[in-house]
This record gives sequence, structure tokens and C-alpha cells, in this order.
Amino acid sequence: ETVEWEAASYDMGGHDTFMHKEICEQPDAVDRVLRGRIDDRFSTVHLGGLNLDPREARTIRRIKILGCGTSYHAGLIGAGLIESMARIPADAEPASEFRYRNPVVDPDTLYIAVSQSGETYDVLAAVQELKRKGARVLGVVNVVGSAIAREADGGVYVHAGPEVCVVSTKCFTNTVTAFALLALHLGRIRDLSVTDGKRIIEGLRKLPAQIEEILKTEDQIKEIAEQYAGAQSMMFIGRVRGYPVALEASLKLKEISYIHAEAYPASELKHGPLALIEPALPTVAIVPDDDLLEKNRAALEEIKARSGRILAVAHQPQAKADHTIVVPKNEDELDPILMGIPLQLLAYHTALAMGRDIDKPRNLAKSVTVE
Ligand code: AGP
Repeated sequence: ETVEWEAASYDMGGHDTFMHKEICEQPDAVDRVLRGRIDDRFSTVHLGGLNLDPREARTIRRIKILGCGTSYHAGLIGAGLIESMARIPADAEPASEFRYRNPVVDPDTLYIAVSQSGETYDVLAAVQELKRKGARVLGVVNVVGSAIAREADGGVYVHAGPEVCVVSTKCFTNTVTAFALLALHLGRIRDLSVTDGKRIIEGLRKLPAQIEEILKTEDQIKEIAEQYAGAQSMMFIGRVRGYPVALEASLKLKEISYIHAEAYPASELKHGPLALIEPALPTVAIVPDDDLLEKNRAALEEIKARSGRILAVAHQPQAKADHTIVVPKNEDELDPILMGIPLQLLAYHTALAMGRDIDKPRNLAKSVTVE
């Protein structure tokens, strides 16, 4: 059972689909999640609804992030941001898996529930179970006043605005940005230096204009998508920060094009999936200019040596790739926010070329409010 799709009550604003509208809204959406929160004086951010005083924030020993689907993927990136900026061990897990494995609920762990709708049953049930056991739970939620937002002890609103398309795009980007804010906030209470705080803030401020730049490459992405539209299956790879980007991009492609896609950490290729590589299985590779660039290039070589077709999303053209979508560079920590965006457009144009019903993919609903 699902919540009714209410698209008719919203305006498409001149776009052909809500998905396209929502992809294009991202510069404004990201601007909204940042607005009024940056504190230049202390190189940090203020998050009004967090309900977590600095003394408590210093006692957190672990962070566990729970969500489903795209929100889970945003949580994976969020965990990486928290570990790198706040140096608190953090991980993400699908909320339903967590709930059914009778987890150890530890008083020094901060739990964070992530949800666009704020109504996803598996997430809500996990939150209720955690609260029953006395845990502190924050929400990273889009819909204000939703069930999860109400149930949580505090949290960060994502301010993506109404998301109508069944597949999440702008809310993913905003959720990851909200996690960057939370990571910066926790980091500056703990060991993140003023200099690093400033560096991240400068990076955050650049995001809306850089997203605009990416959106301008849509025609190029459309051309590439039309070449991949006939594929039976696609592989998505990324390493560390790039891996959740690969997971999310593969989910997006599956949801709206119905092309089978799987995401793997680039480092795992040689442990099995390399056997699949052949000209008919294209690989989309996330290749940021960071300390892992050479490692990622080596993976591209492995694929090329097996005649695999490669589409790279990178900060500079990749010699081994058949196509590269070049995205603007930000701070290493914030690059995943930008690298996901061209892949939303890739999924969109692939599905369009295949004549799919983009805003209403088969078998799916916007929120899953039952078990
Ligand atoms: C995303 O494109 C999905 N359709 C789906 O995975 C979604 O992210 C998931 O059901 C969680 O929804 P929520 O964020 O509203 O909790």
C-alpha cells in the first residue's frame, strides 16, 4: 500500500517532466539548505533544530545513519563526511535491515534517520524502536512536520522543496549537503580547524554556481545517453567517496529506464565482477581528482584491457574512457555532491530515449508507508 501520487496538484513550470524540473531546480535548492546557516565568524554553521548542545556533541562516540533507497545512499555519503570532518566513526545502514537484526543500541551512539517524505515506514519503525530503547535520534528530513521529523529528538531540515517525481533527485543533493553542514558543525565542535572550516564553507558557497555549470552540459549528456540506451546492463564503479555516488546513479538508472545496473567499489572489480566486462556491458566510473585518482585510472585500464566501454565522470578528460563528463572541482569532501548530478541527467535521458514513463516508473510509489 502506498500514499497517493499528488503530481496533479503541482505545476511542471515549463518542463516536460517533474524529474527534469527537479533536476534543474538544484542550484536554488542547494542555496536554500545553506541559507542563514553559515557562521563566518567561527567558520561553522548553525543548525537551529538540532537540540544537541556542544557538551553532548563531544561525548558522541559513534554515529549510525538509517534510511532507505536514495536516502540510504545519501546517508552513506553523510557517514563519510562525518568521519572525515568530525572524526567520529560513522556508518549507514538500510533502516529495515537494522530493525530486523536486533541491533545493539548503545547510549554513546547518535542515530540519524534520513527521509525525504518523513513517512517511510521502515525508517519510522526504526526510530520508534530506538526511542523506546532510550537512544538519541536526529532526523535529516525534507517534509516539515512529517512523522519522522516529529518523532526525532531534533534534526536538520533539508529544504529541497516539494519533490513530486517518484525518483528522488534534488532531495538527494540537498540531503548530502545537509550532512556536509552537520559534519562541519560537529567537526568544529571537535577537532576540525578554523582553516578547514573556512575551506569547507568556501566549497559549500560554490555549489549552486557549479551545479548550474553542470546543468549546461545536458546536451552532451543526452547524446551520450542515447548511445547507452540500448544496453542490457550497466556497471557503476567508484571508490570510497565515489562508491555511494555509483550506488545512487545505478539506482536512478534502474528505477526509470529498467536497465539492469549494479554498483561496485572499484577496488572490488578484481574480486569477481571483472568477469562480466565485455563490449556489451558499459561501465560508468566516478573518477575525481583526489588522492585516489591513480588507483581509479588503473581500474579504467583493467576495463579497457577487456574491451569494456567506459563513461567517466571526472574533473578532467580520462584517456582510457570512451566518454568523459567533466564536472567542476570543489573540495574533495564535497565532490560527491556534484558528481551525482550528471548521472541523474544520464538516467533521465537514457529513460527518455527508451520511451519510459519517467515520473511514474512501474511498480514504484513516492513513499512506502507500510512494511
Ligand atoms: C528514490 O529514487 C526512491 N524512489 C526510493 O528509493 C526512496 O528514496 C526511498 O523509498 C526512501 O524514501 P524517503 O526518502 O521518503 O524515506
